[in-house]
Amino acid sequence: MECIFNTTNIPLIFEDQFISFGTSFDKTQKSKDQGQVNIYGFGERARPLRYTPGTYTMWNLDNLNTPNENLYGTHPFYMQYYSNSGRAHGAFLFNSNAMDVTITDDNLIWKTIGGVIDLYVFTGPTPEDVTKQYHELIGTPYMPPFWTLGWHQCRYGYKSIDEVKTVYTKYTQYGIPLDTMWNDIDYMDGYRDFTTDPIRYPKAEVRQFVENLKAKNQHYVVIIDPGIKFEQGYKPYDIGKQLNVFIKKSDGVTDIVNTVWPGYCVFPDFTNPKAIPYWENLVAQFYSEIPVSGLWLDMNEVSCFCNGTCTPTKKYQKVNNKFDPNNPPYVPGGRQLDMKTLSMDAVQHISINYNTHSLYGLYEVNATVSVLQKVTGNKRPFILTRSSYPGLGAISAKWLGDNEATWESMRNSISGMLAMQMYGVALIGADICGFIGNTTYELCARWTQMGSYYPFTRNHNDIKANDQEPYVFGQEFVDMTKRVLANRYSLLNFYYTQFYDVHVNGGGVVQPLFYVFGHADSNPLLATIDTQFMVGKSLMIIPVLEAGVKSVKGYIPKHKPGWFDYFSGELISATGGETMEFDAPLLGYTPTLIAAAKIVQKQIPSLTTFDTRRNPFQLTIALCQHEFHANGQIYLDDGETAETIERGVYSLVDIQAKRISQNVLTLVTKVVKDEYQTNIPKLDQVTFYGYPLTSEVCTVTVNGNAYHRITIEAKKRIVTMRGLGLHLLESNLIVITCQ
Ligand code: NOJ
Repeated sequence: MECIFNTTNIPLIFEDQFISFGTSFDKTQKSKDQGQVNIYGFGERARPLRYTPGTYTMWNLDNLNTPNENLYGTHPFYMQYYSNSGRAHGAFLFNSNAMDVTITDDNLIWKTIGGVIDLYVFTGPTPEDVTKQYHELIGTPYMPPFWTLGWHQCRYGYKSIDEVKTVYTKYTQYGIPLDTMWNDIDYMDGYRDFTTDPIRYPKAEVRQFVENLKAKNQHYVVIIDPGIKFEQGYKPYDIGKQLNVFIKKSDGVTDIVNTVWPGYCVFPDFTNPKAIPYWENLVAQFYSEIPVSGLWLDMNEVSCFCNGTCTPTKKYQKVNNKFDPNNPPYVPGGRQLDMKTLSMDAVQHISINYNTHSLYGLYEVNATVSVLQKVTGNKRPFILTRSSYPGLGAISAKWLGDNEATWESMRNSISGMLAMQMYGVALIGADICGFIGNTTYELCARWTQMGSYYPFTRNHNDIKANDQEPYVFGQEFVDMTKRVLANRYSLLNFYYTQFYDVHVNGGGVVQPLFYVFGHADSNPLLATIDTQFMVGKSLMIIPVLEAGVKSVKGYIPKHKPGWFDYFSGELISATGGETMEFDAPLLGYTPTLIAAAKIVQKQIPSLTTFDTRRNPFQLTIALCQHEFHANGQIYLDDGETAETIERGVYSLVDIQAKRISQNVLTLVTKVVKDEYQTNIPKLDQVTFYGYPLTSEVCTVTVNGNAYHRITIEAKKRIVTMRGLGLHLLESNLIVITCQ
């Protein structure tokens, strides 16, 4: 019996604007874990993954990446993990009011200033189970379009479409992979949504550029902010005014006004059903002019430049003993709740801003998803949002907001990305090379290497910062970028298959080490590691996170089947449980290990995801060093149509390597489903790591026919078979017999 939420001895307070309750940590467990308490969650926050005692606020805020403070998303979920047993449990408070959580060595106390206690407890027993149980409740991560897993180039400050074209041309000239060009608010006419600047971004030229990209199977995404310029004669304003769909002041009648980029703005109330067709029409009209592949929804906390409203006379009157949203008796985070956002008494269709504030982005995304799907002809919508709330990940991607071009920001992006996986937001990344401030050659090199493993990979920076496209750093940097992006593109299907898995089952595309190895490794250190991460359960990424080094230390979790260097196939350690040092030359790859017993699929990389999808498959088969088996899976669909999984129009292939007797090993590919059959690439090459060679003379049959293109590197125990040309949607059997 395990007590996982223990309210004994912690007072329950339930008042109109203050609710408090909590749980005491299990003392027996704590002592088994040498006094260490492992709590994760309570996002969004830039800090180490595991919590230390303190008070943490949840309330959506445009707050850069200020360490420890509340940022753009609210995710009132936590997981507790016990190192000694590998067991975990979690809880989610389904509440949208501003809240604090105080964590001490002994307990955890929640304080929210509204709503009810709608608490869900997840029993695990493993961290992965907890995550899946939570995702079952809030919605499993969405299945992204295949192209979104490619490389994205963005910046705030591309002054004209000519400049964007120049960047694009340079990418082409240097032969750097690129799937998507982005535009920030620069493209707009006076920062008005759904317009383009007539001089710098003439509509016809932008459209032509987008058509050219499309013709090359590349993509274009633009930013849209929620603030609609308060200006008569500007259609989005006039129509919205006429339909009466903007958020109101406390009188429930007058539109609330605040400033954002275009100056005075009003804000669509996405909780109002009338606002949905209003917004859909605006998006559809814009799309008919500029056929974007997706939309970037920024500033949707909602972020404003004045606190509350911009009316100078604003002064809240405290009303004693009466519900007062502007003066709550307890203020989570200790600073005014309307900081950089609308007044708390602003009125939305479903409630006042005091209750709905942190839901704004989720409602906006929700209003945008269906229209995008409609206008693109039933393609999976791609939205990148900054604000988030539970459930967001089931419909959208997200990035981690305004980080800095610093090693600290780069490091925090790992825990940020891992925490988002916990919240069901799988398509996540941070601005690669850093957003604010000037990056450096070295930081940008290391960040590009690591960032190429983010689920969402985008280079983006601020208008005030120096250029940071890969080619500005010279040819050697370009060559490094091409190498690491070739590695990324080779792994696209591997990532895509992880997305399929988490879409169906819940869980993370990338995961903390303790998720995968907690059951096998009781070292308390494992629970603290957020400087390394797993892609699926197969690849371990050990990035360089500091300046001036040529090697990096990484912890190798205990994993009985063993570990291999992913690139060289060299056996690392049979069991793990220790820290090792890896070479990490400045212009090399991020050290990457493959867990034995796993098969990772690769495709020969091209410069776009579209071309790569059609290239032959290769398998890296890391054999378990005890029983010499391994398994993997390949998911295939058209990469873009909505609900391919739900409608069953996909194919799935299981792959299994197994030693069946002392000197015979088989590789079997088994078709689990074959409802998608277009342009299926051949399986062309397989490479075994850690092959149990009994002799160097091996005979091979492929589907019963003799096969001779086998290379054996006896010393390294690597066996490669090339030119196989196998149909993936037919079952295949390879038998290797070594005398
Ligand atoms: C804030 C966003 O976080 C950033 O990415 C963007 O460049 C600026 N807004 C300008 O739109």
